[in-house]
Amino acid sequence: MNNIFDSHAHYDDKWFDQDREQLLCELPKSGVVAVVNNSVNIETAEFNKKLAEKYPYFYFTAGYHPENLENIPTDYLDKIQEFLKHPKCVALGEIGLDYHWDIPRDLQKKIFIQQIELSKKLDVPVIVHDREAHGDTMEILKKYKPKGLLHCFSGSVEMLKEVLKLGMSISLGGVVTFKNARHSVECAEYVPMDKLLLETDSPYLSPVPNRGKRNDSRNIVYVAEKIAEIKGLTTQEVLDITAENARKFYSI
Ligand code: NI
Repeated sequence: MNNIFDSHAHYDDKWFDQDREQLLCELPKSGVVAVVNNSVNIETAEFNKKLAEKYPYFYFTAGYHPENLENIPTDYLDKIQEFLKHPKCVALGEIGLDYHWDIPRDLQKKIFIQQIELSKKLDVPVIVHDREAHGDTMEILKKYKPKGLLHCFSGSVEMLKEVLKLGMSISLGGVVTFKNARHSVECAEYVPMDKLLLETDSPYLSPVPNRGKRNDSRNIVYVAEKIAEIKGLTTQEVLDITAENARKFYSI
C-alpha cells in the first residue's frame, strides 16, 4: 500500500519519546506520504514545528484544544497567527468543545469562537474536536461557518448532513473498525468520498487488529480497508482518494 496520508496525529505525545525519531524515519518506507501533526497549545505547536522542519513529509497545525485552556496566554491569538505564517503550518487546530471533562463551558465556547474568527480572517481551515458536545458545536459552526473538518467524527448521520451542508469535511480513524461503531460505520456509508479524510489520532484509537496498542500512521491501512469494504472500492483507491482530499484541504 502507498499514498497513506495521516490527516491528524500527535507524534509529540510522550508515548513516542523513546523512539520518535526512528519511527518518523521509518514511516515513509511503509507508504506514508504525509502526516499533519495536530497541536493542542503553544508548547506542542513549537515542538511540532521543529519536527516539520526536520521531516519533509511532516506538517503541523497551531491552536488551543479545549482541554488546555488553563493558563492560556492572553496573547494566544497572536502566537497562533505567528505559527500560521510558517509554510508547513497548514491549519488552525485542534479547537472545539469537550464536555467529557469538567472544564468551564463558557470559556471553551469563547476560545473556540475566537479561534474560528481568526481562521476566517486568515483564510485557513480549522480542525474541530467535538467530544460529547454535538449540540453546542453545531450551533457555533452554523453561526460562524468556518471552513474545515470535524476530526474523529462521532456524530450521527443527521449531524453529518448538517456538517456537509456547511461545506465541511470529516475525518475518520480507528473507531470505524470497532465492533460497537454503529454511528461511525453509518457515517462512512453516507459521507461522499470527496468529503472524507483518514486519520490516526496517534497514539490513541488504534484500529482493529491493533486496538489498545500504540497507534501510528501505518495503521491507516486498516481504516482504509474498512472504508473500502463499506464503499465497494479497493483499499488503495480509498487511500488515493483520501490523500488527494487531504492535499486539497490543507493546500499541500
Ligand atoms: Ni487529536
